[in-house]
Amino acid sequence: MVKAAIIGCGKIAQVRHIPEYLEHQAVNLVGFYDLNEKRAEELAEKYGGKAYGSVEELLADPQIDAVSICTANHTHAELTIKALKAGKHVLCEKPMAITLEECQRMVECAEENHRKLLIGQNQRLTRTHQMARKLIADGEIGNVLSFQTSFQHSGPESWSVDAGKNTWFFQKKAAAMGVMGDLGIHKTDLIQYLLDDQIVEVTAEFSTLDKCYENGEKIDVEDQALCIYQMKHGAVGTMRASWVCYGQEDNSTIIYGSDGVMKIYCDPRYSLQIEKKDGEHILYEIDKIQTNADQTSSGVITEFIRSIEEDTASVLDGKQIVNSMKGVFAAIQSNQLHIKVMV
Ligand SMILES: NC(=O)c1ccc[n+]([C@@H]2O[C@H](COP(=O)([O-])OP(=O)(O)OC[C@H]3O[C@@H](n4cnc5c(N)ncnc54)[C@H](O)[C@@H]3O)[C@@H](O)[C@H]2O)c1
Repeated sequence: MVKAAIIGCGKIAQVRHIPEYLEHQAVNLVGFYDLNEKRAEELAEKYGGKAYGSVEELLADPQIDAVSICTANHTHAELTIKALKAGKHVLCEKPMAITLEECQRMVECAEENHRKLLIGQNQRLTRTHQMARKLIADGEIGNVLSFQTSFQHSGPESWSVDAGKNTWFFQKKAAAMGVMGDLGIHKTDLIQYLLDDQIVEVTAEFSTLDKCYENGEKIDVEDQALCIYQMKHGAVGTMRASWVCYGQEDNSTIIYGSDGVMKIYCDPRYSLQIEKKDGEHILYEIDKIQTNADQTSSGVITEFIRSIEEDTASVLDGKQIVNSMKGVFAAIQSNQLHIKVMV
C-alpha cells in the first residue's frame, strides 16, 4: 500500500489527484496541506486523513511515501526538492518548474535520493495519443513533414479554486508564464512525445490580447502563444495556445505525413482519424481527452503508483519532461528577443 499526501489542495487536486488516488486499490490517501489551512482541513474531513499545519510537518511524517504537488507554478521546484530530500516520491503538476535550471535540479535531486519524480503531463497518457504515437512510429502516415497542435479555451478565471480576474494564473510572480506555461506546455511536450523527436529551433510570438485584471488593466502574462517548431528529424509545424478562445475548447493535433494526414481530437466521436494519400479513410473511436468541464480519468495517478511499485521508468519521468521544457524556455526567449532560438 502506498501512503500518499496532497500539497496544494486546489482545483486540480480536487478534480484529478484526489479522485484518482481514492479510486486506486493500492493507495491510502493520508494527508493534505495547503497555504489555505481551512481548505486542507475540509478535504481531510471529507476524505479522511490529516491536515498538516506546514509542509515541513507533512514531509517529516514517516508514514507518507508519496506526494502530489498541486500548487502554483513558482513553488514547484522548491517543494519538489524538499519532498525528494525528505525521501518522498513526487508527482509534480505541470509546468515542471519555471526555469530550466530548476527543472534540472529537480531531476538531479530525484536521482541523488533514489526517488521517483513524475510530472503531470497527462496528455501523454490518453489512449488516443498512445495509439497515435504507435501508428506514427509504424509509418502509417509515412514520414512526418508537418503538424499543427493547439490547446485553446476561454481561460482559467473560473477554473481556479480562487476564481476571478485576479487569479494567480494571471500573476507573473506566481505563474511565471501565461498561457504558454498553462496550455502551451502540454502541446510542446506532446508533439515531441508523439513524433519521438526533439524541437531544435523555435520562433515564437506571445501576445496579451484580451485578459484584464479586475481593475481593467491588461494582465502581465500572455493570453496567446504562437510558435513555429523545427524538429530534429526535419518536420516543421505550429503550436498554438490560447486563453481567448470563447467558443468550444480546442485540444487538437494534426500531423501531415508523406502518405497521409492524421487528425487527433478533431472530431467529438472519432478521436483519431487517418486520411491516406490513396483516399482510404480510417476512423478510430477511442476516448475523450480531459477538458476543464469534463474530467475523464487521466491515468496519472495509476502511472505514478505503478512506477513506484514496480520501480521502473515512466513516460512521465522528470528526466524526459525536462527535454520538452527546453522547447518551452526557448519559445519564451524567442518571444522576448524577437529572434529564432536554437534549442
Ligand atoms: N495537468 C493539467 O492539465 C493541469 C490542469 C490544471 C492545473 N494544473 C497545474 O496544477 C497546479 C495547481 O493548479 P490549480 O488549477 O489546482 O490551481 P488552484 O488555484 O485551483 O489551486 C492552487 C492551490 O495551491 C495552493 N497553494 C499555492 N501555493 C502553495 C504553497 N506554497 N503551499 C501550499 N499550497 C499552495 C493554493 O492555496 C490553492 O489551494 C498548477 O501548477 C497548474 O499549472 C495542471
